[in-house]
Amino acid sequence: MQSYIQSAEEILKKNDLGSYTVPTHGLYPFQWNWDSCLTALGQFHFNEARAWREIETLMAHQWDDGMVPHIIFHKEDDGYFPGPDVWATGRQVPTSGITQPAVAGFAVNRLYERAKDKALAGEMARALLPKIHKWHQWFFRCRDPQGTGLVAIIHPWESGRDNSVDWDVPFSRVPTDGVLPFQRRDTQHANPEHRPTQAQYERYIWLVQLFRSLKWDNMALHDNSPFRIVDPGFNAILLRSCSDVAKLAAEVGLEAIAAESRSFAQKGTSAMEALWDDDFGQYICFDRAANELIKSPSISGILAAFADIPTNRSQALAERVLQLSSRCTYAVASHDPAAAGFDASRYWRGPVWLIVNYMIADGLRRAGQTDVAEKIKQDSLELIEKGGFAEYYNPLTGAACGGLEFTWTAAMVIEFVSQSEIA
Ligand code: DGY
Repeated sequence: MQSYIQSAEEILKKNDLGSYTVPTHGLYPFQWNWDSCLTALGQFHFNEARAWREIETLMAHQWDDGMVPHIIFHKEDDGYFPGPDVWATGRQVPTSGITQPAVAGFAVNRLYERAKDKALAGEMARALLPKIHKWHQWFFRCRDPQGTGLVAIIHPWESGRDNSVDWDVPFSRVPTDGVLPFQRRDTQHANPEHRPTQAQYERYIWLVQLFRSLKWDNMALHDNSPFRIVDPGFNAILLRSCSDVAKLAAEVGLEAIAAESRSFAQKGTSAMEALWDDDFGQYICFDRAANELIKSPSISGILAAFADIPTNRSQALAERVLQLSSRCTYAVASHDPAAAGFDASRYWRGPVWLIVNYMIADGLRRAGQTDVAEKIKQDSLELIEKGGFAEYYNPLTGAACGGLEFTWTAAMVIEFVSQSEIA
């Protein structure tokens, strides 16, 4: 096991640019929001101060309204599309104009719990929690204007699951007229068969152009976007972060933050019940623009295990993981292999992602579903053995897909391998 940790550490160091870490050189040459937060968990095992710095750097680019962007373009690099000129958000250090899964609250709490340097951890928690809480308040203000308790994403890139089968129907409502000509860069770095299609890219860019025309005014974007989806996995990450922020804020004496975070978590967790689907035995997405549930069995509804959901739901999700595992070789496929649209090597339409495995396993372990959590961990380590530290893996063959020498995969391996020592 030691050699896994050493190889993972080497990748984290190779991708470290000092105050932030790129997901992998070439394909993703900037700082990504949720990548950085999960990366910090791995860095923490060999350098606590560096791990805190990763999250500090991200939060330093928070917008005045509270939004934390999904990409920070620290340096110029024309090897990525869409770059800062396409986003045109007007920031001094350019950023994108949309957000990503809010995993910072969870990460900060985990770092704090494990810290050997308690003085630094306390200082960091007191500095970061108000910012993270401001981001959470932004979510509930701008992405849940009706006060349902759950927030919507307005672009597939926000979920991180760019080309999920979940978006096929809602994306058919996003037009492509008026999209300015562009040249993709991703397909020059990674196998085009592993990436989203050109038709999906045109819609991604159409949405960016729409938001840009609305001057990135977050009070207007939600209602004007034809793509408004309540994603259970995305919400579960936010709600888990709210509940972790509540716990940590109480511990470091930030009582007002603790109280509001607790109420966000409670309200959202109750509202999640409306996303449960008995046919699939998991949660599913809700299309807020069309006012209907999306009958699509993706990993998002299993990632819901990361939040404090009821015990019977955690148990059902553990069973669902086993059912999906019986349909492929490695847990957990990002789309049900028995469902239409499954594609074993195309990004989020089937491949296994170690960060998602980590969060599902963490939630199931907390809920007492330790056997299934352990199976997810073992499968994850077998994937490393088979395919190296890839961005994602074919769940049938274990073949490496997407980018290689991937930062967050390396971070998750350190976490998985160290788990037994920490527990
Ligand atoms: C990409 O460029 O592939 C990203 O997922 C967008 O953040």
